[in-house]
Amino acid sequence: MEPCEFPDIEQRLSPVLQRHGADASRLLQILRDVQDTLHFIPPEAVTCISSHLGIPRDSVEGVAGFYSFLSLQPAGEYRVLFSDNITDNMLGNRELMQYFCNKLWVEQGRVSEDNLVSVDTTSCTGMCDQGPAALVNGWALTNLDQNRLDLIAELIRSRKPVADWPPMLFEVVDNIRRKDTLLGDAFESGSAIRATLTRGTRETLAEVDKANLRGRGGAGFKTASKWTFCHAAVAEEEGSVICDIGGNPERFIVCNADEGEPGTFKDRVLLTSYADLVFEGMTIGARVVGASKGFLYLRGEYRYLLEPLEAVLKRRREAGLLGDNILGEAGFSFDIEIHLGAGAYICGEESALIESLEGKRGRPRNRPPFPVTHGYKGRPTVVDNVETFAAAAKIGLHGGEWFAAQGTPQSTGTKLLSISGDVSRPGIYEYPFGVTVEQILRDCGGDDAHAVQISGPSGTLVSWQEFGRRIAFEDLPTAGAFMVFHRKREMFAAAHNFTHFFAHESCGFCTPCRVGTELQKKIMDKIAGGHGTPADLEELKHLGGILGSMSHCGLGHSAANPVLDTLKKFPGTFERKLKALAFEPAFDLDGALETARKITGRDDEWAHL
Ligand SMILES: Cc1cc2nc3c(=O)[nH]c(=O)nc-3n(C[C@H](O)[C@H](O)[C@H](O)COP(=O)(O)O)c2cc1C
Ligand code: SF4
Repeated sequence: MEPCEFPDIEQRLSPVLQRHGADASRLLQILRDVQDTLHFIPPEAVTCISSHLGIPRDSVEGVAGFYSFLSLQPAGEYRVLFSDNITDNMLGNRELMQYFCNKLWVEQGRVSEDNLVSVDTTSCTGMCDQGPAALVNGWALTNLDQNRLDLIAELIRSRKPVADWPPMLFEVVDNIRRKDTLLGDAFESGSAIRATLTRGTRETLAEVDKANLRGRGGAGFKTASKWTFCHAAVAEEEGSVICDIGGNPERFIVCNADEGEPGTFKDRVLLTSYADLVFEGMTIGARVVGASKGFLYLRGEYRYLLEPLEAVLKRRREAGLLGDNILGEAGFSFDIEIHLGAGAYICGEESALIESLEGKRGRPRNRPPFPVTHGYKGRPTVVDNVETFAAAAKIGLHGGEWFAAQGTPQSTGTKLLSISGDVSRPGIYEYPFGVTVEQILRDCGGDDAHAVQISGPSGTLVSWQEFGRRIAFEDLPTAGAFMVFHRKREMFAAAHNFTHFFAHESCGFCTPCRVGTELQKKIMDKIAGGHGTPADLEELKHLGGILGSMSHCGLGHSAANPVLDTLKKFPGTFERKLKALAFEPAFDLDGALETARKITGRDDEWAHL
């Protein structure tokens, strides 16, 4: 290792640097560990990392600046981030955060004068069924109330290490309320791999095809096609034939566990209690496409799952279900590495996820080419959702016909829904595709609901008149979020919250999204503040058109969905907020130019607008 010019820092960081080696693709993991050790990433650490990895300082800073859980400025020994999804708002997170700030004499968004603590908000942490939630130094806190916050404030004041805090503060429960074929029956580790080896690789791919399994991450692309393209990409290049995995040129399997869509938490539950099923599905996928290496991209908010998941991987290696010659099959080698995210929703987008896996900023790539041909390190890569792999394992075991017997012809199998909001029984519900919104509301205790946000902010808002609609790719596709709103809720609040979410999570790469999401947020703030006019509603529609058609990736394409849906389905919620009939600007332009006038010494008529 090249010595850097700051021996003190180097000494403190040396365990981190040694653990990760001089591998630039581990940069994000290194930065996460440095943040854990020093509570932020000081300039000296940037210099050390840059010389250790042999990459420019700018690149290190660029990556550190991109991810919201990393900080280049001192961030407080204890960094508390309150989850700020609309469901947290409905549970009083804002009032609780203010209470907590008052207790600790700290202002939101600032570090306390003694550098002890900072308090702020973060996007949804995936705990909507047990909110209000927060993170302390990256560890998930659930079911917050004033009593718990009193205790937390006390622990912070006494500088107790987070590792020694009472476990009840960090308790995360599964809340599985309805099981079907994915969650319902016991699964024996290795059984699906064994069935795959007996049946044959080509035949297993045929079963996945027959099952008509479609991706559970939202878009619903057919999984068998993706696996076929991935394998064929190398087959073409190497001149080999499909499913001939001899020689095995490099391909990769990636499990997308970024789960950043507000209101979605079903992957959290799968990884908590069904990790074997997920890893088994990845292993079957690896067998089919001929990959020897897999990654689980685990969102930073689920940091607490890292050690339990590592333990599952270790157990599977010991049982011969990962590693070389899996279950004694000569040449069948596959292993899985876990890569932690650091608070960037955009990293759920598959090409941004791959960039992040390579140790870069999570910026969506131009497509085509697609990851199936040019993915991780330019090699063919399958990126699938956690639930997709779990379903693939079940198909590997029971076959395609068994799977296709459930659901609808275009949407076979079952779907996990993460239900939160105004319901008496929030949690995970597994249904065959085709179930109506009405039925789900009955089961989860969503009495007197007048709206459901399906698939999170990027999805669809469904009003009470549409509760007969069905969860299915041909009607209401969903990655899993099902947020329920009681008829007393003002839907404006939800749309307002979602505009803040998109403006915060836009990666800033393309202008329509970077500027469009910010303007959208500003106009919504203006309306919320009682200054909105009908012209602002027109402007929101206009912006929605630009975002939807001119953005580079799916985030920008869907960023106006909540506003446009709410305007269409609940126009009254906007109209009730409008105070003026004529146009009023979103901010005081003349006032904003005051400083410039002072600097230039001008105060004449032409210096005013
Ligand atoms: C902004 C954005 C965020 C996304 N987040 C996720 C995510 O958290 N998890 C996920 O599986 N897919 C996510 N996706 C979809 C992925 O890009 C990709 O389609 C998916 O991982 C493919 O897996 P599947 O075919 O199994 O659904 C996201 C897409 C976009 C545009
Ligand atoms: S649409 Fe938004 S998130 Fe996507 S690349 Fe452009 S700026 Fe980034």
